[in-house]
Amino acid sequence: MNNNGLPFDIEKIIEDARNELEKITRKDELEYWRIKYFGRKGVFAILTSKIPELSQHLRPEAGRKINEAKNLLNELLQQKKIIVESAQTYNDTGLNYTLTGLKPDYGYFNPITLVSRDIVRIFQNLGFGVHTGPEIETDFYNFEALNMPEDHPARDMWDTFYLDAERKFLLRTHTSPVQIRVMEKLKIPFRIIAIGKTFRRDAFDASHSPVFHQVEGLMVGYDITFSNLKAVLIFFLRELFGSNVRVRFLPSYFPFTEPSAEISISCVICNGRGCQTCGFSGWIEILGAGMVHPEVFLKAGIKEKNITGFAFGAGIERIAMIKYRIDDIRQFYLNDIRFLTQFE
Ligand code: DAH
Repeated sequence: MNNNGLPFDIEKIIEDARNELEKITRKDELEYWRIKYFGRKGVFAILTSKIPELSQHLRPEAGRKINEAKNLLNELLQQKKIIVESAQTYNDTGLNYTLTGLKPDYGYFNPITLVSRDIVRIFQNLGFGVHTGPEIETDFYNFEALNMPEDHPARDMWDTFYLDAERKFLLRTHTSPVQIRVMEKLKIPFRIIAIGKTFRRDAFDASHSPVFHQVEGLMVGYDITFSNLKAVLIFFLRELFGSNVRVRFLPSYFPFTEPSAEISISCVICNGRGCQTCGFSGWIEILGAGMVHPEVFLKAGIKEKNITGFAFGAGIERIAMIKYRIDDIRQFYLNDIRFLTQFE
């Protein structure tokens, strides 16, 4: 062994230290290694403390060798530290559970779904049940029972997709036929909403779509008045659009309600001052409503005299467009991920 007369083999110490360092994968192991060699009672501290015991002529050489070894191993320690820290901790299996994973891409809800859920939540809190009806309807439920006999001019309000030459079957033009189906089925008093697809022979442009969604509401009982209608709808619209929204009722006409009303909210964009969105009127029309026409009760088989009710209907797309400031109805159906990921 040639140690140049020194009482320790510095090459062997370096080699052992390197081998140990090589195997290290974790921060705590690295810290043990550092203490073993560089600690206050570590290998180098001991070697250094032995220098004065050496004969005079060996001391400079011993000091130099120890320093060289320290510098080299310290260099390797710093390199290893970067590796261990950047890779965080690989565990025994060699897998690093601490690396950032790939974020899974999750789905988004169409604003139609978001608005529908809001509406359902608000009305369920008011004790309304949620019902559905068929998208393929008969002339009876879509028109006749809603006080629109054949050749009634009001039928022109809805351009209809008929499914047969006799014009008996059609795609419902509104959710109002659910009113009749529910009145036939439920025990009075009741209150319900229905949300679903509706169909009209309209152009597909920025403000029209041949398929869209509506929400229908119906409350029937022995003492339902127009005040109830107002209270429920004002509450609903303020829940949906915010508590500072003002609500306006204007007289209107629907064959299935009497009296009928058209209901607007103060423009959510300009707060009623007038802007492009509200056509500079300060108001946005949002709902049709009214007291159920006596003829509708009769058609639904309700003959008791003292029964009254109110009904309303609104377009979901229209609500979503106002709420989320969407200016083209076609956006809802394009499945463009850049559009869909904007709403929560
Ligand atoms: N069904 C009407 C439409 O599609 C909306 C509507 C108006 C529904 C008044 C109602 C109502 O229930 O009372 O235009």
